[in-house]
Amino acid sequence: MQKVRKAVFPVAGLGTRFLPATKAIPKEMLTVVDRPVIQYVVDEAQEAGIDHLIFVTGRNKGVIEDYFDIQVELSNTLAERGKSVELKLLDELQPKPGTASFTRQQAPLGLGHAIWCARDLVGNEPFAILLPDMIMQAEKGCLAEMVALYEKTGGNVISVEQCAPEETHKYGIVGKGDAVGNGFKITSMVEKPAPEKAPSNYLISGRYILQPEIFDILATQERGAGNEIQLTDGMLKLAETQDFAAYPFTGRTFDCGSKEGFIEANVAFALWRPDIREKVIGNMEKLLKTVEPADNAVI
Ligand code: UTP
Repeated sequence: MQKVRKAVFPVAGLGTRFLPATKAIPKEMLTVVDRPVIQYVVDEAQEAGIDHLIFVTGRNKGVIEDYFDIQVELSNTLAERGKSVELKLLDELQPKPGTASFTRQQAPLGLGHAIWCARDLVGNEPFAILLPDMIMQAEKGCLAEMVALYEKTGGNVISVEQCAPEETHKYGIVGKGDAVGNGFKITSMVEKPAPEKAPSNYLISGRYILQPEIFDILATQERGAGNEIQLTDGMLKLAETQDFAAYPFTGRTFDCGSKEGFIEANVAFALWRPDIREKVIGNMEKLLKTVEPADNAVI
C-alpha cells in the first residue's frame, strides 16, 4: 500500500461570503487568534505525516505564497533585535525547501476543477485533500485518524460528521456499512438526499484521502450544482469501482468561510490557549452581559 505523502489545499475560491474582507485578503489568510486559518490546516496535515504541501491558488492569492516563504528582511530584523522566540516560531512553521508547491486554477470553476489542477504535482499516488476553510479542533487531528484508517483499508477514506436528520438535503450523505478500524465502510453516497431518502445522517465533511484515478474522472466531468465541477460528483463515479471508508470525526469543526463559523473558531481556539484563556473568558462574560443588538450595526 502506498503511503499518503502529499496533501492538496484548494485555495482558489472567491470567498464571496466574506466580502468585503476577501476583496483583498484571501479568506484562508484571515487570522484565528494569531495565525492564519491556513496554518491550522497545514499543521493538521503535517501531524498526519504529510511531507509535501500542494496549494491550488487563484488570482489575489499571492500572499499565501509569501506566507509560506522565508521573509529574509523580517528574519534579519528580528535577529538584530534579539527576538529569538519569534524567530524560532517562524522557523518552526517554515516548510522545508522543496516541500511546498503552488499551481494556479485560472478560473474558479469549482472544487473538483481545483483538485484536477493539482494532477501533475500529485502524480500517480494516493493523496489527501483538506478544505482550508474548515478548521478542526481535536486532541488528535482528523487527517491523522484518517491515515490510521487508510492504513487498514486502503482505497479511499473521507471524513464524515453527523447532521440533524432533517438537514440531509444540504449535504453529501453516506450509507453506513460494517465497522472497520476507527471508522466504517461506506455502502453508498448520495448528494443532498431528502431526509426520507437519506441512507444515514453522516455528511461528507472537509477531509479526503483519494486514489489518483479521481483525476481521470475529473478531467471529463460535466459541471454540476452551481454550474461548477464538483468533487462530490467525481467521488460518486469513483465509488462505482473503488472502496470508500469513513472516519466519523467527533471533534469540533468550524466553517471559517462563514462569519459565524469564523468567530466561533476564534473563541474556541482562544479558549484552548492557556496564555489567553482566562482573560478571554472574563471579557466575554462582560460583553455578553452588556452588548445589545444595535440599530446602527453595519450589516
Ligand atoms: P466554497 O464553497 O467555500 O467557495 O469552496 P468559496 O468561493 O471559497 O467561498 P464562497 O462560498 O464564495 O464564500 C470550498 C473550498 O474550495 C475552494 C475554496 O477556496 C474553498 O477552500 N475552491 C472552490 C477552489 O479552490 N476553487 C473553486 O473554483 C471553488
